[in-house]
Amino acid sequence: MTQTILDNFSKTLSTCLTNECLTNRPITVAEVSRHTYLESYFSVENKISIHQSPTLNNTTEKFDFIVIFDVLERSTNPYQLIIDTAKHLKSDGYCLVRSTDRAENSTNMTWAGIKATCQENDLFLTTKWSEGKGNDSEQYYILRNINSDLRWDNTLISESSNFLFTPASHITDNIEKGSPEVEKTSGAVHYLDFFRTIHHTLTPRNYLEIGIRFGKSFEIATCRKTGVDPSPEYSTTDANANIFPLASDDFFENHANYELPHHLDFIFIDGMHLFEYALRDYINTERFSHENSLIIFDDIFPSHNTQALRDRSSQVWTGDVWKIIPCLQKYRPDLILIAVDTSPTGLLMVINPSSHNNSLAHSYNNIIKDYLGSEYQTVPKSILARENIISPSDPDLVTLLEALKEKRLDTLSSELLERLSLY
Ligand SMILES: C[S@@+](CC[C@H](N)C(=O)[O-])C[C@H]1O[C@@H](n2cnc3c(N)ncnc32)[C@H](O)[C@@H]1O
Repeated sequence: MTQTILDNFSKTLSTCLTNECLTNRPITVAEVSRHTYLESYFSVENKISIHQSPTLNNTTEKFDFIVIFDVLERSTNPYQLIIDTAKHLKSDGYCLVRSTDRAENSTNMTWAGIKATCQENDLFLTTKWSEGKGNDSEQYYILRNINSDLRWDNTLISESSNFLFTPASHITDNIEKGSPEVEKTSGAVHYLDFFRTIHHTLTPRNYLEIGIRFGKSFEIATCRKTGVDPSPEYSTTDANANIFPLASDDFFENHANYELPHHLDFIFIDGMHLFEYALRDYINTERFSHENSLIIFDDIFPSHNTQALRDRSSQVWTGDVWKIIPCLQKYRPDLILIAVDTSPTGLLMVINPSSHNNSLAHSYNNIIKDYLGSEYQTVPKSILARENIISPSDPDLVTLLEALKEKRLDTLSSELLERLSLY
């Protein structure tokens, strides 16, 4: 499942719901998909009810918003499926269609084809955007009934300058540079240098990296290694390397059980910079960990609130991954968290994972509700100031890495671990 569609969808619906005119309007959403994707996002919004089904053939209900996710690629006639589904739109409803061009999963839909389908069926194609690179590009279309010219807040569509649907900004690269204050970074040592120290000392048997981009951190590992990224800009002939051009959720759902070693020594989480993705990546990777595994999060220390916005608006962008810290502290007090003062955006080392502990997965919906809520809108001063952070050249870190290498975390003194621990 691609990640950005959920962000676009989430942004779109949030825009609608925060509009005062809509406070009394309950929103009905149909998720036409094989799996349930939206519930964890919107179960928190009691004004939204979600009907999930791979087809709407068995209902006469009309919806405010219909999302067609992962059924087109399996349909013999995807255009007809869109027409049949759009009949379930309320007069001012919207339908968001995702069509993937991924070679092995093609919908065979074309831009001309979808335009003709809309014209012939009184549908208006309000916007289209595409995303992804190479052989994994995805198209998104927003359709509505041609006769409807009102938005949900009863303003005329033609009068509205601020169009309802735009792709979430973090999928575009055109981010303007902010002021020096907004773009500032900090850290004693560059994270890639610290990674070299880790690999040198830990000499892991295997390594998993989520989010590899140009392969800079991935390349440092010389052991058996797995990289996961929906748009990697890196390839290698290294026989030790296995790269999956997939979003991490897809990878864990469909490939990890067959492709990953079950006792990973070192895991680096550096994919989508949004709290819920980082959390899911943690939940999914921890299943493949052992007691002496090392799990590291990147982008944990924004130096300015703007860098931590969920909607990217600065070149230095950590998103709200920082929320992983209070979340793990609350839900997983058994973990040892060590913050390392690397540039540009700090690292969080997680020690003592447990492959059988499912408390995060169990509380996932509540966690999302809490940490995406109003209480966590600004980055705490302690995080911006990197309080209690450990220098990457601290000798106790080497002692720790040596103990992990020799699988004897339990032999380390509690004083040493307490000194390194974040709080
Ligand atoms: C900051 S870059 C990674 C940099 C790399 N780890 C390094 O240090 O050299 C983040 C990468 O995460 C990838 N990404 C975005 N969403 C992802 C997802 N859902 N699963 C896995 N990777 C994702 C992006 O395509 C991007 O290449």
